[in-house]
Amino acid sequence: MTADYKVHGDIAVITLNNPPVNGLGYATRVALTDGLSKANDDVAVKAIVITGAGTAFSGGADIKEFGSPKALQEPNLLSVILTIENSAKPVIAAIHSVCMGGGLELSLGCHYRIAAPGCSVALPEVKLGLLPGAGGTQRLPRALGVEPALNMIVSGEPVKSELLAMLPGQQLFNKMASSAESLLSEALAYASEVAQIRPLPLVRNLPCKHPQGDAYFQFARNMVGGMSKNFPAPLKCVDAVEAAAKKKFDDGLLTERELFINLMWTPESRSLRHIFMAQRAASKIPDVPADTPQRAINAIAVIGAGTMGGGISMNFLNAGIAVKMLEMKQDALDRGVATIRKNYEAQVKKGKLKQDKYEQRISLLSTTLSYDDLKDADMVIEAVFEEIGVKEAVFKELDRVMKPGAILASNTSTLDVNKIASFTKRPQDVVGMHFFSPANVMKLLEVIRGAKTAKDVLATVMALAKKIKKTAVVSGVCDGFIGNRMIEQYGRQGGFLLDEGCTPAQVDKAVEKFGFAMGPFRMGDLAGNDIGWAIRKRRYLEKPNMKYSKTADLLCEKGRFGQKTGAGWYDYVAGKRDAIPNAEVVKMIEDHRASLGITPRKISDEEIVQRLVYSLVNEAAHILEDGIASKASDIDMVYLMGYGFPIWRGGPMNYADEVGLFNVVQAMHRFAQNPLDDARFWQPAPLLAKLAAEGKTFN
Ligand code: 3HC
Ligand code: NAI
Repeated sequence: MTADYKVHGDIAVITLNNPPVNGLGYATRVALTDGLSKANDDVAVKAIVITGAGTAFSGGADIKEFGSPKALQEPNLLSVILTIENSAKPVIAAIHSVCMGGGLELSLGCHYRIAAPGCSVALPEVKLGLLPGAGGTQRLPRALGVEPALNMIVSGEPVKSELLAMLPGQQLFNKMASSAESLLSEALAYASEVAQIRPLPLVRNLPCKHPQGDAYFQFARNMVGGMSKNFPAPLKCVDAVEAAAKKKFDDGLLTERELFINLMWTPESRSLRHIFMAQRAASKIPDVPADTPQRAINAIAVIGAGTMGGGISMNFLNAGIAVKMLEMKQDALDRGVATIRKNYEAQVKKGKLKQDKYEQRISLLSTTLSYDDLKDADMVIEAVFEEIGVKEAVFKELDRVMKPGAILASNTSTLDVNKIASFTKRPQDVVGMHFFSPANVMKLLEVIRGAKTAKDVLATVMALAKKIKKTAVVSGVCDGFIGNRMIEQYGRQGGFLLDEGCTPAQVDKAVEKFGFAMGPFRMGDLAGNDIGWAIRKRRYLEKPNMKYSKTADLLCEKGRFGQKTGAGWYDYVAGKRDAIPNAEVVKMIEDHRASLGITPRKISDEEIVQRLVYSLVNEAAHILEDGIASKASDIDMVYLMGYGFPIWRGGPMNYADEVGLFNVVQAMHRFAQNPLDDARFWQPAPLLAKLAAEGKTFN
């Protein structure tokens, strides 16, 4: 049973009870229609209230059912709503907390709606690449007016119930309850009040027009089309609402249905639904149960007030958590604090942060030059120079001063977290927290699980990540962790492409057309080409037989490190980020190519994209096999949140699944034939080969 049925006097109350958000899955729909029949059959019942148990009225259709036969199994949501509309006794929706998607559509089918203040009301289907498919596009414009309804449908953003109730002429809420606590008793009283009124009012019978008609919808299309490139759903939302304004209700409903079903099968919607689930799955660690106790974190220490230390500190200040920064010298501390202030002041100037909030945040920040001042911190995050000797000295000090049970985290991007843990007598308290630069902006956090990291440390860090609004993904210990280990292969392919005939601009353009925020060479210029140079020096000492293009080294030998030196693969004008192709760099690539005796060939955008993206996929398959990532969807989150992978393609693993792993493997076999590429690398990872052979997918 996923809905409870109870009679209060002469009012029946059906309470949706399908945790966590009362999703309208098959069993809930059955229980709801059963309740409606029971109430209609009971002569003692005069009216019916529908509400939700727990912390939601309803979060809408059960997303987990999408794509399965259950989603369509009768009674589907449309039939449930029709049953409500046809009820001989009035049905009143008592709405609280969360009323979204199918949940809002359900309530719009009810004869009356009473809402608690503070309720988040939305039709968020567009965020899943869909549109409301159970009458939302037809009923909400009738209840709220075309413009506010279209805004909600196209943005998917929640609006508070009390704000909606203030819209002139709105018929969404017949009544506002005075509080969530009194909602049920007020709904029962309201039900008694309306029990005898006939005919029963229906939203479908309300008029729906926009005074500017065609001109308005044209304007809406222009606005929405401009903002939703690569996503088909938003424009379809406009089509559906236009149908509401121009067609008879039932015809509009048919239009909505057709558009909904077509969108459900688009790769964009599949990707967005995948991301919704992947985002929530990322915080779940297979062997760390959800009820693992967490350590209390009220005060944080950050070691190093440089680029990363400053950004990391801001995350915690923003979340209202006190931060103490430690440096070796006062001037380094002063510089760090000044940068934090400058960042906040820029936000205040842009109107993104109120002055009092800025002051509040800054008041949580303190500094010190002495480790002894860190003894009260519940957690410390180290962000000092990337040298193992420096890390050793810092962690030995931390081991000496930090209180028992404090979490010791390192923001190292390349070093061995197990080794760092071994510098302390409490390796169970040591964890990696790999933030991405700029750390106060980038959403991704790789949480590096050392061999001895305690489960409660992981649980605490994952919860803390949520608090500072990061998407945390757990990675095992390996060189580069998940993201950078993959990007190294991607960068290597970029180098081979230059050797074989491409220019940096051609590669970047192809990748950006595919949807990446930035191609590999623009990205190198942004991050600093010297970073990759240092990694290559180390890597090819360790693996002298590993094939790679020397072009990037030649570039660095010229001091062209990227934006920070005003010159990299491209030229940059001070204060601007535009990448201007440079003829000397192109000549350098050509000369190098000639010195290798390579005759350049024309390489298609398709080949460029395939080689770059499939190099990510193959390395990711090794990462999964090695147990560095526990699930493919985590790898997608890393690339979506940290590396600018196009959202509508759902991440590299989801994209490979969409292409078909068999096709991906075939392409790899082709690339392995290229004598200028690395045939060994293009041997499909055993996991990938197995899944492809079995006709399976990563996700
Ligand atoms: N179906 C199934 N499960 C859902 C769900 C839904 N519609 N909405 C949320 N959940 C689950 C999540 O997967 C998560 O599960 P987990 O605990 O196992 O990881 C749990 O509920 C809690 O979700 P959040 O972590 O997101 O919790 P928050 O409190 O931060 O947010 C929420 C709650 C605002 C309801 C948010 O989850 C949300 O926005 N959900 C999506 C709502 C949505 O898109 N509804 C439309 C569905 S499509 C539809 O209705 C089609 C119809 O038009 C025909
Ligand atoms: P940075 O050079 O900007 O800052 C390092 C700071 O640490 C300096 O201010 C320095 O004075 C201070 N410091 C050095 N030794 C110290 C010690 N013993 N005690 C106290 N303070 C000390 O370096 P950045 O870029 O902030 O990097 C820091 C760490 O973050 C490194 O481990 C790096 O690999 C990692 N990282 C860097 C990223 C980036 O994009 N810059 C991204 C992710 C991780």
